[in-house]
Amino acid sequence: MSSIKDKIANEFNNFNILNQVDPTADKISSPIAEELAQNFAKEEVLSETTLPRPAQTRIISVTNQKGGVGKTTTVVNLAAALAMENLDVLVIDMDPQGNASTALGIEHGMARTPSTYNAMVQDAPLIECIKKCPDFDTLDVVCATIDLASADLKMATEIGKEFKMKTLLQDLLRQRHYDYIFFDCPPSMGILVMNALTAATEVLVTIQAEFYALEGFGLLNETVNMVHDNYNPDLKISSVLVTMFDSRLNISNDVFDEVKSYYPEQTLETVIPRNVVISEAPSHAQTVLTYDPRSTGALAYREAALEISQKEPLPAVTSAAGIPTQSVIDGVYNYQQARGYYN
Ligand SMILES: Nc1ncnc2c1ncn2[C@@H]1O[C@H](COP(=O)(O)OP(=O)(O)OP(=O)(O)O)[C@@H](O)[C@H]1O
Ligand SMILES: [Mg+2]
Repeated sequence: MSSIKDKIANEFNNFNILNQVDPTADKISSPIAEELAQNFAKEEVLSETTLPRPAQTRIISVTNQKGGVGKTTTVVNLAAALAMENLDVLVIDMDPQGNASTALGIEHGMARTPSTYNAMVQDAPLIECIKKCPDFDTLDVVCATIDLASADLKMATEIGKEFKMKTLLQDLLRQRHYDYIFFDCPPSMGILVMNALTAATEVLVTIQAEFYALEGFGLLNETVNMVHDNYNPDLKISSVLVTMFDSRLNISNDVFDEVKSYYPEQTLETVIPRNVVISEAPSHAQTVLTYDPRSTGALAYREAALEISQKEPLPAVTSAAGIPTQSVIDGVYNYQQARGYYN
C-alpha cells in the first residue's frame, strides 16, 4: 500500500493539479504557486480517503512539559480533523489555562461551568461535565476552568490520586462510546499530567522545530517510562509530531532528523508548518479546520490525523518509549555539543 506521502506526490505530479493553479503554466513558477499546487494535491487525496474507525477507544495524552510547543493546537485540530470524518471524539482539557476549551468554542470563564475540576476534585461524573463543540456534531469537550490550578494542592493527600481520571473515564466509557479521547496537558509534570498519562493508552509528543526543542526530551521520556512502570503498563509513546516547521530553515530539518533518529517508528512523516491562520483561529473560538479549511495548516492537521488513524493496531512495548531514557539523554547531549551548545 502506498503511503499518504506517495499519493500526494503522485497527485502533485498530475498535470490537472498544476492546471488548477495556472491553466497556462507548464511548470510551477513560484513558491506560492508550488504551495497552492501541493495543497490541491493534498485536498484531492484527503477527500478520497476514509479514516478507519479504531477497534477500541484510543486514549491519547498530548504531553510535553515544555511550554508553547503546539500541544493545545494539536489537540484541537486533530480532534476536529477526526470529528470531520464522523468519528466520535472527546477532548478533556487538563490545563487550567483552558486554551483548548476556548479554541473549541466552549465558554469556560464561569466557575460554575461543569469542568475537569468538578470531575477531578469533586468527583462529578464526567458525563455531567461534557459540552458539545458547536462546529462539529461528533466532538465533545470537558472544559477546564481556572480553579483547576488548585488541583495539585487539593488532591495532595488523596490516596490513589494518580488513578482519578482513569476511574472517571472507565465510568464514562460504560455509558458512551468514543473513538478517540484526547487530553490536553499543561506544561508541567504535576498531578494533572500524571492523571492524563495514567488514564491514556498512548502519548503523542509535540516537538517545536527550533533549537531548544530537544531540551527536556530525556526528562519527558523518563516520566513516561516511570508512569508505564508504576501506574499504566499499557502506556506507549505512539506518535511524535514536529510542529511550527519551516522547510526553509536548516534547524527545522535538523530537529526532524534528530527526533526521527530516537523515535523512528513513532515520528510522523507529516509535519505541521508554521502557518499564521493556525494561530489566528483560536481568537475566533475556532479550529483552523473551520476557520480556513483550505489553508496549509488545516490540510497538515487532516494529513496528521489520517497518519495517526492508520497507525493502529499499535505494537506492545516493554518500556513506554520503547527505548531506554539514557540513550535519549546521551543523544540529545551529543547533538547539542556538536552544535557548540556547551562552549
Ligand atoms: N503551526 C503553527 N503555526 C503558527 N503558530 C502556531 C502553530 N502551532 C502553534 N502555534 C502558536 O504557538 C503558540 C503556542 O501553541 P500552543 O498553545 O498550542 O502550545 P502549548 O504547547 O499548548 O502551550 P502551553 O504549554 O502553554 O500549553 C500559540 O500562540 C499558537 O497559536
Ligand atoms: Mg496548551
